[in-house]
Order: sequence, then C-alpha cells, then structure tokens
Amino acid sequence: MRIKRTSLVIGIILIIWSSLLYISLSIRPIPSKDDEDVDHQIVILEQSISGEFERNNVIINRAQKLLELKKKAEHRTNLLAMELQNVKIPILVFACNRVTVNRCLDGLIKYRPDPDQFPIIVSQDCNHEETRDVILKYGTQLSLIQQPDQSDIQVPPKEKKFKGYFKIARHYGWALNQMFFNFNFSTAIIVEDDLEVAPDFFEYFLGTYPLLVKDSSLWCISAWNDNGKEGVVNVNRPELLYRTDFFPGLGWMLTKNVWMELSTKWPKAYWDDWIRDPAQRRDRSCIRPEISRTRTFGKSGVSNGMFYEKHLKYIKLDEEFVPFTKMNLSYLLKDIYDNDFVHKVYQSPIVKHQDLKDGKVEYNVPVRITYRTRDEYKMITKKLGLMDDFKSGVPRTAYKGIVTFHFEGKMVHLAPNANWKGYDITWS
Ligand SMILES: *[C@@H]1O[C@H](CO)[C@@H](O)[C@H](O)[C@H]1NC(C)=O
Ligand SMILES: *[C@@H]1O[C@H](CO)[C@@H](O)[C@H](O)[C@H]1NC(C)=O
Repeated sequence: MRIKRTSLVIGIILIIWSSLLYISLSIRPIPSKDDEDVDHQIVILEQSISGEFERNNVIINRAQKLLELKKKAEHRTNLLAMELQNVKIPILVFACNRVTVNRCLDGLIKYRPDPDQFPIIVSQDCNHEETRDVILKYGTQLSLIQQPDQSDIQVPPKEKKFKGYFKIARHYGWALNQMFFNFNFSTAIIVEDDLEVAPDFFEYFLGTYPLLVKDSSLWCISAWNDNGKEGVVNVNRPELLYRTDFFPGLGWMLTKNVWMELSTKWPKAYWDDWIRDPAQRRDRSCIRPEISRTRTFGKSGVSNGMFYEKHLKYIKLDEEFVPFTKMNLSYLLKDIYDNDFVHKVYQSPIVKHQDLKDGKVEYNVPVRITYRTRDEYKMITKKLGLMDDFKSGVPRTAYKGIVTFHFEGKMVHLAPNANWKGYDITWS
C-alpha cells in the first residue's frame, strides 16, 4: 500500500513538473523579425524539451529502481515471517510409566502459542495403564501413539541392569520413524516426560529453526545448558545463544534429514553417548542457550538419581520471554561465529582461575582462562563449579574446546591454546 502511494505521488510530481516546463518554454516570446531565426529558435526549443524529457526519464527510472529494491527488501522480511508462520514443528514427548508426565504436558500446553503449528504427540512405551489414562485426559489437545513392540529384549548378561537403556533406544527409534516416515514431518522437537519448559520454549525453537535448516554444520538446537546453574550463568542475558560441539539433548530439535542419516544405524542402547561419537557427530554442532529453556523435575527409573540430586536440580530455568523470532540470529551461523566469536575469545585477556574465584579480576571485559591438559581442565572446572566430564573427548558446552560461562556476571572463556588441534578422544 505504502509503496503504491509513494510511486503515485512521485509520478504526479514528475508529470506536473514536465508540463510546467513545457508551458514555460513554449510561452517564451519568439522574435518574429526573421523566419530563419524563428526556425532556429524552434529547433533549439525542441532540443531543450527533449533534453528535459530524457533527464526526467533518467530520474523516473532511478526512482522506479529504488522502489523495486525497497519492495524486494520488504518482501523478504514478510516472507521470513510468513515462512515461520507456516512451519509446523511437532513436539514428540516420550512417556513410559511415570504418571508425573502431566507436569511436562501442562507446561507445554500452557506456553504453546498455536496448537496447529506445534502439535504435541506423546509416544508411550511400557503399556503402563495409569500413565496412559493421564495422557488421555488431555483429549484433543494432543495425540497419543503407543510403541507396539513390548517383547522382551535380549541383553548381554553383563548389561542386564541396563536393560532400560535398550528399551529407551528401541522406543526412540520407533517413535522418530513414526514422526518422519509415517507422519512425514520435516522437523521435530524431542522432550522427555520429566522436563518442564520455559515461557519462550516455542519461540526459541521457532526463532532458531531457520539456522538449523540453513547451516548444514548444525544438527540440533537444544534448550539445555549443561553448565546452566544459577552461579555460572548471567540471568540478565537470557537472549544469549552459543554454538556447541557437545550434544546436550534434554529438549532438542532435529530435522528429517538428520534422522534419515541416523535411522539407518540407530543403536540398540545408550543412544545419547552413541550420538556424541565422532562417527555420528561428524564435526557438527548444536545451538544452546545461556539460560536453559527446560529443566528436569526429577528422575526415577533408569537414569542415575544421584546425578539429579548433585547437578540437574540446580539448573536454572529461564523465566523471561525473549522474542527470538524477531531477532537477527545470523551471528550463530558457522562462518560468522568462527570469525567473530572465536576471534574475540582469543583477543580477551588471560586471567588465573584462582584470581577469578577470589574476586581479584579487574577487567570489565570478557576474560579467558587457559587449560592445557585434561587434568588441568578437571581441576579448574571443579573449583569453579562447572561440569568436569567429557564425552568422546568433548567437554560439556565446548565449542572448539572453548567452554564459555559467567562468573559473578562476568563472561569467562575456559579455552585451550590458540593452536588447538581438535578434541582428544582419550580425554574422559
Ligand atoms: C512428505 O513431505 C515432503 C515435503 O517435506 C513432500 O515432498 C512429500 O511429498 C511428502 N510425502 C508424502 C508421502 O506425503
Ligand atoms: C544480521 O547480522 C549479521 C551478522 O551479525 C549482519 O551481517 C547482518 O547485516 C544483519 N542483518 C540485518 C538485517 O541487520
């Protein structure tokens, strides 16, 4: 509308201008003494008029070109907003025999902006009737699918007590096949029944979706910060996002393309460690937030309850809504990030971890702590209250070996030397 009106106004002004020019030139007094002189005057007049028209044409062409550019730019912005509106992102919730799944579902339904855009599909294993009843109470707010293969799994004798992990892998494989090959979704967010979500959970995944599609060096968007404890995040920066080489899981989005690749070799057990193996990861990264958009409210069952008590329960859940779909997140694309972020890390001043801990660091800019060995890494992370473990040689949250966190509001990069050559798979 606005573009049409602007072009109309410019057009009218140009027409009036040309007419006035023509009139003013034609009513100029013409010397009538000499016929030849008159002819000459007319020729000059015609030349000057056609010259004016040419100049006008140039101006009109230029104005039209500018308008076209403006139209294109507006079209692009509208297109992106429209495309995001048309993207369907289903949430796949894994359930088994925990009736507390309602806590997870309540949060998802409470914060879901549009049931058509974000259909919730609960996949239940285990045939646990009470849990199924809880899920069915939600009626048409969600769909329930049930893993049909309840046969016993043959587990090597040594791994008898880990049978649960075999069942989980079988369930994941079946449900993801349903999502991508039966329902034909092009992407999905995976949530487990013990997760609760932040108010901008859907906004986060919708806003980062274009990155996942565009950047083939990304294979997941995760809602989870493994070092997301209150003391080592900056609660005033909920908009901060990072790339990480460590697969975080715990509320994550993948595309059908990634599933087509993984499904052909999906493991019988321990899928999350398997997925972190270099053969699966193939140097790809995930996006993770500064403040987690999921939190686990306690796990009984196969997973280690100690890990929950010691660590998971302290992860801070974001409370503030960040309008990710309206933000420019291009800084997370590999080429830009590797230039800007990684460059900044190695420009930052080096400090000692003990000085940081003792409050003796005076810089007002992000700082860097260097680690050289596995043991040094473990020692520093323990002292600062960070996770100290590795999977396939990758420290939790690391990107190119760099673990970024906040300490009393200050951004800190725990980083290897600048001549770092890649992860050492023997670090564990
Ligand atoms: C599945 O979706 C893709 C687009 O994502 C489409 O090209 C294809 O035709 C669909 N297949 C079926 C069987 O609906
Ligand atoms: C978005 O951010 C990128 C990278 O920081 C920048 O190059 C680009 O110009 C920005 N785009 C807009 C529309 O501001």
